[in-house]
Order: sequence, then structure tokens, then C-alpha cells
Amino acid sequence: MTAILSSRAQMRRPAVPEEGGTTMTLDRAALLRNGVFAFERADPRAAPFAMLRSQLLHRLDARKARVVAVTSARPRAGKSFVALNLAAALSRIYPTWLVDLDLRRPVVRERLELGDVASGVDAFLLGAPGLGEVRCVVGEQHLGVLPVDTPREGSAEILASDRTAQLFASLRAHPQSPVCIIDAPPMLEGDDMMILAPHLDGVLMVVEEGRTPQADLRETLRMLRPTPVVGTVLNRTILPQQPFGYGEYYPR
Ligand SMILES: Nc1ncnc2c1ncn2[C@@H]1O[C@H](COP(=O)(O)OP(=O)(O)OP(=O)(O)O)[C@@H](O)[C@H]1O
Ligand SMILES: [Mg+2]
Repeated sequence: MTAILSSRAQMRRPAVPEEGGTTMTLDRAALLRNGVFAFERADPRAAPFAMLRSQLLHRLDARKARVVAVTSARPRAGKSFVALNLAAALSRIYPTWLVDLDLRRPVVRERLELGDVASGVDAFLLGAPGLGEVRCVVGEQHLGVLPVDTPREGSAEILASDRTAQLFASLRAHPQSPVCIIDAPPMLEGDDMMILAPHLDGVLMVVEEGRTPQADLRETLRMLRPTPVVGTVLNRTILPQQPFGYGEYYPR
């Protein structure tokens, strides 16, 4: 089912013209070292992310949505791992944005080994005039990345500013805008995610099997309303049929 839906979704989504930013080629070996597998079509560890990509695209198409944050109840559930690999898998078939909005613990710049290329989304949120985005190229695919420059303690105050609305308006500005994956903070630590939620079209929830308490999950889902949860990723699963420990996805 997903493969058919996926190709239909792709056909309906025209390519977005490249514009702005600094284009750089990512180091494949560094990506694999940092747990970013899904740029590689032939890597079996990428397969669950291709499945997730197809299901998400179908889901977004049905809702005419494009901006999705990857979050979890508590820290360290694997949000960045999922956001990076999902964005990588999406960018193999469709122009994609990856935006790091976990201002306290940003990792996108480090895991993609972007160095100091381009200024950060945090600089934009603090008043810098342009987004200064970096477009990363691996093979033939195109991934636009907005990394963070410096971990920020006052992240909630930064995210609560008018600049956040401007950021999301810019991400949605093109009539044929790419799908946008946000590497987001956890729900139950600070209020950063609550501040971001109204700007989102949907949320992808990362759940750690056997580790995410049900009460935390319930509380998270309650707090998120009315922002829709467009799917759930079961990470570090103990199911024997998931050999790489992630990728179980079920739309809600
Ligand atoms: N299924 C997995 N298989 C292998 N490594 C994983 C998996 N899930 C997460 N990791 C690794 O676990 C570590 C923590 O994951 P990650 O940084 O994605 O969590 P996070 O939820 O983004 O944390 P934070 O709340 O700090 O932002 C990383 O080194 C990541 O590569
Ligand atoms: Mg993270």
C-alpha cells in the first residue's frame, strides 16, 4: 500500500526550484559514523525510513500539510536520529527542509558535519536579516538545512518572539514549498515545544518501547492538542522483526 501511495504523492508534488543558500556536499562516511544512514538507498538501515517517508507524504498530502516536528515526551528518545534520517530519506525523492529548533540541545550541524557554513536559525530568530540557509547535496538529492549556531539557555524566550512566526511564514512561502522536518525539543521538558506547536501542521511522536511511560505519552498527547499527531515512531524497539531497532510507524 505504501509504495503505491508514495509514488502517487511524488507525482503530485512538483520539484521546487533551487534558490539561495550555500550548497555543500556532505561527507558520506561522516554521515554513517553519525548515525545518518538514510541518504543511502542501498543501506538496509535506511529501509524503515523510506517506509516512514512514504506514509508521512501520504498523510501530509491528505491534509495539505507540510511542516512536521519530530518530538517525544522526554529527552533522548531518538528525535534527532529520526528527524535526520527521515529528512535524508525524503530528500532522495523530494526537495526537503530540515530545521533544528531544539535550541537547547541542537545536533543537526554536528551530525551532518556542516562546520561553520551558513549562519544558524537561532541567529535569524534573534534578529539577523536572512535565513542564511545551507543546501546540502548528497548524490542527486537536495536537502535545505537550517542548523543552530550555539546552544541557547533562554530558548523559550527566543521561540516566543515574532521571529518564529516569520520563520514559519518563510518556510511556507513558496507555493510549491518543500516538506519541512523540524528537529524539535521534547514535550515534557520546558515549554519550548508548546510554544512551537501552534506553528506546526503536525507532529511525529517518537516513542521508546518499554521506556516511554504511558502517563508521559498521554500527557504529551493531551498537551499537544489541537496540533495533530500525524504518526508515531517506535524507536529502539525490541520487536524481533525490526532488526535495526526502529522504524515501526503507525498513523493515528
Ligand atoms: N534506533 C537507534 N539506533 C541507533 N542509535 C540510535 C537510535 N535512536 C537513537 N540513537 C542514538 O542515540 C543517541 C540519542 O538520540 P538522539 O540524539 O536522536 O535523541 P534526542 O531525542 O534527539 O535527544 P535530545 O532530547 O537530547 O534532543 C544518538 O547518539 C542517536 O544516534
Ligand atoms: Mg535531539
